[in-house]
Amino acid sequence: MNQEKVGKFIATLRKENGYTQKDLGDMLGITDNSVSKWERGINAPDIAVLNSLSDIFHISVEEILNGERKFKKKEKDPEHHQKVLEVKNLSKSFGKRKILEDIEFDLYEGDIVGLIGANGAGKTTLMKTILNLYKANSGIVKICGFDTRKNFEEALSKVGCVIENPDMYQKISGRRNLEITALINHIQDREFIEKMIKFAKLEERIDDKVKKYSLGMKQRLGFINALIKKPKLLILDEPMNGLDPLGIKELREMLLKISREENITILISSHILKEIENICDRIIILNNGKIESEFGIEEVKYKNISLEEEYFEKIYSKNTKGENEK
Ligand SMILES: Nc1ncnc2c1ncn2[C@@H]1O[C@H](COP(=O)(O)OP(=O)(O)O)[C@@H](O)[C@H]1O
Ligand SMILES: [Mg+2]
Repeated sequence: MNQEKVGKFIATLRKENGYTQKDLGDMLGITDNSVSKWERGINAPDIAVLNSLSDIFHISVEEILNGERKFKKKEKDPEHHQKVLEVKNLSKSFGKRKILEDIEFDLYEGDIVGLIGANGAGKTTLMKTILNLYKANSGIVKICGFDTRKNFEEALSKVGCVIENPDMYQKISGRRNLEITALINHIQDREFIEKMIKFAKLEERIDDKVKKYSLGMKQRLGFINALIKKPKLLILDEPMNGLDPLGIKELREMLLKISREENITILISSHILKEIENICDRIIILNNGKIESEFGIEEVKYKNISLEEEYFEKIYSKNTKGENEK
């Protein structure tokens, strides 16, 4: 065992879950000092502790000892996971221009899927079409089994989204914005709203007008606002846009935590491939309105390359193939 690597990995798992060293120590019935010693590679946890860590973090003992995840998450068996989003044959044109062509994919409960592709590839259009903000020319979208055309309200009641910029009322407080969202969605759980405010670390500023917030605060507010209706599916269009490293880190931790704890399915687009690689279990590459490739992140990890390398390889090999075929 590489004690230092294992220690660093335990620290990563702990932080991803938002625990302090003391929280983790309390869960294990030991002092925070012992946790600190593992994390610095001074001591190694014994087998009983490893078993407990495995339970706490939903990860195998083997992975902890290797100091890295074999798979981003436990492998999912589609048979036993609810299909949260089903997209079939989806096409969208603006006038004569075909923007999306025959898009097909499924998302299962708890999936975090990254949607990547060049500017203009159709990512935002795809998200808006899924949400029925744009009317599809053909195809079917089902959310938790509800057809977005035939059962619009039921389907959309299961989705939270932040498309382009968080759409918040600027002249009222963050709290009032959340209350309005709760009211519209018939949510009366005030405790949940307070929990979300804490989750987004907005307690101190929640009563200020939104226009006074920093971009990171607005993004975090938009994100919890999307969670207020307790959705099964979250659709986030470039949520990291314009955020500084700390803002990105905070948003990443929130995403991972909410996905784990509430088993929310997330579809997220971003140009920050490193971030997508950190967060997602699965990747969909969109190229000129078509799905170019769909793969699990573990595929990239096994090849020991970065998502960026994989992305360019997939796009590039396609382009050269195209030329050969001419
Ligand atoms: N409302 C619209 N009307 C006409 N064309 C649009 C509209 N929205 C997007 N497009 C076009 O659709 C294509 C895909 O855009 P978009 O979905 O925003 O891509 P991405 O989000 O991947 O950058 C672009 O060529 C864009 O010009
Ligand atoms: Mg876009």
